[in-house]
Amino acid sequence: MKCESVKIHRVEAAPAEPGRYRNCVDRDAGVISREIFSDASIFQAELERIYTRAWLFVGHESQIKNPGDFFTSRMGNESVILCRDQKEGIHVFLNTCRHRGMKVCQYDEGNTRQFTCPYHAWSYTTEGKLHGVPMYGTLYEEHLDKDQWSLIEVAQLHNYKGTIWATWDKDAPPFLEYIGDAKEHLDLALDGLDGAPGETEVFVGVQKWIIPANWKVGAENFLGDTYHNPSHRSVDDIGIGPSAQAGRKGRRDDELSGAQHVWVNFPAGHGAHSAIQPKMLPYAEAYQDNPQVEQYFRRCYEQRQERQGEKSRLLPFVCTIFPNTSFNGRQPRSITVFHPHGAMHTEMWRWYLIDKGAPPEVRDLMRHFYMRYQGPAGMTEQDDIENWQMATESSAGPIARRYPYNYQQSLGRAGKHETLAGNVSTQISEENPRTFYTRWADYLEGDDWDRLMGRDDPIFKNLAGVDDE
Ligand code: FES
Ligand SMILES: [Fe+2]
Repeated sequence: MKCESVKIHRVEAAPAEPGRYRNCVDRDAGVISREIFSDASIFQAELERIYTRAWLFVGHESQIKNPGDFFTSRMGNESVILCRDQKEGIHVFLNTCRHRGMKVCQYDEGNTRQFTCPYHAWSYTTEGKLHGVPMYGTLYEEHLDKDQWSLIEVAQLHNYKGTIWATWDKDAPPFLEYIGDAKEHLDLALDGLDGAPGETEVFVGVQKWIIPANWKVGAENFLGDTYHNPSHRSVDDIGIGPSAQAGRKGRRDDELSGAQHVWVNFPAGHGAHSAIQPKMLPYAEAYQDNPQVEQYFRRCYEQRQERQGEKSRLLPFVCTIFPNTSFNGRQPRSITVFHPHGAMHTEMWRWYLIDKGAPPEVRDLMRHFYMRYQGPAGMTEQDDIENWQMATESSAGPIARRYPYNYQQSLGRAGKHETLAGNVSTQISEENPRTFYTRWADYLEGDDWDRLMGRDDPIFKNLAGVDDE
């Protein structure tokens, strides 16, 4: 029997009244309702309308190097399996058995020839095909067409410089179109420090922890909330940066001093904070106490300048690809996903990136830095999460929820930049979240892909108009 014969697969909740979500975001005034960070029905709508459509980061190909390797990830609040099949093809499957829905994979990662469901032992190949059904000949043969009951696979998958992205929406634009000009900033994290395209890999495992805050709070912070720097004063003062052993203060190596900082947003809702050096500068000594590390970073820096020329003046900081994938571009260099658990609970996953060719001394130094900086025990991370947790708590009460948040910072100050694509501010700005939440509302209102890609967005239409002159 074909699975299509059941006509009702899902009973949808009654649609919200049109404008319910758009009314939560006033981009022009710079005001956003607190409801969107705590309301359970809005959270449910996000799962239905954002996480079933947008491109989501699932994992890195360096986690599944060999045939049969798998990594269990998430898309929205659902478990998925990222796996390399026996013929080297990469797949992302929903982690649910087609019989009664048990998770067919119980492990965080590993290697297998097949996924065997623990409940009644149906088994699936690494290509997702239903292969083994106990007592098939006696109980099922005339009825069960195995070809109809494969694992559920994503509609589209894209491997971008080793990062694996997927969407459930067959009508979503191709990944490269989806990220658009945010690619320029994403590349800064995914290319080697020497500028070699995609020469990074994941190392030291994936950190996972649950925080009591809405997923958008973290995603928004990574759009470039530079304004929150005072909350990191203590870690700046004690100097937890990677070159701290040379007596330097700060959380990172200060490669960006003298650079023009830019806050850039893109029509599909992505946003980045990067910086442009005023000219091609010589390498700044940083690791004099550690000659091997010093030599490595110097060589990478100079090779990147040779390879990219003037383009090498662009240096990364942070970036969020809509909706929930964020990057630290350099110090540290990592990918963070804010997995939605509930209106006020999020599971943070962090992958750490390193150059494929980095020697052991560099790997060791960065490993220690990442532990000091990020993750549940990282000192910088704790500053952030204390803010996010307490802001969530003090925003969720019946009185607090009547008063919106203020997003008026640098209102009307973004526009065209002489070298960068996108809507650019050269002063600290909340323009990135203003665009992010405008797209957020479009998804929740159920808009089409033209709208979700910001093709009719007046701000970006005006930028294009400047181009044409
Ligand atoms: S739920 Fe998987 S075999 Fe029954
Ligand atoms: Fe922070």
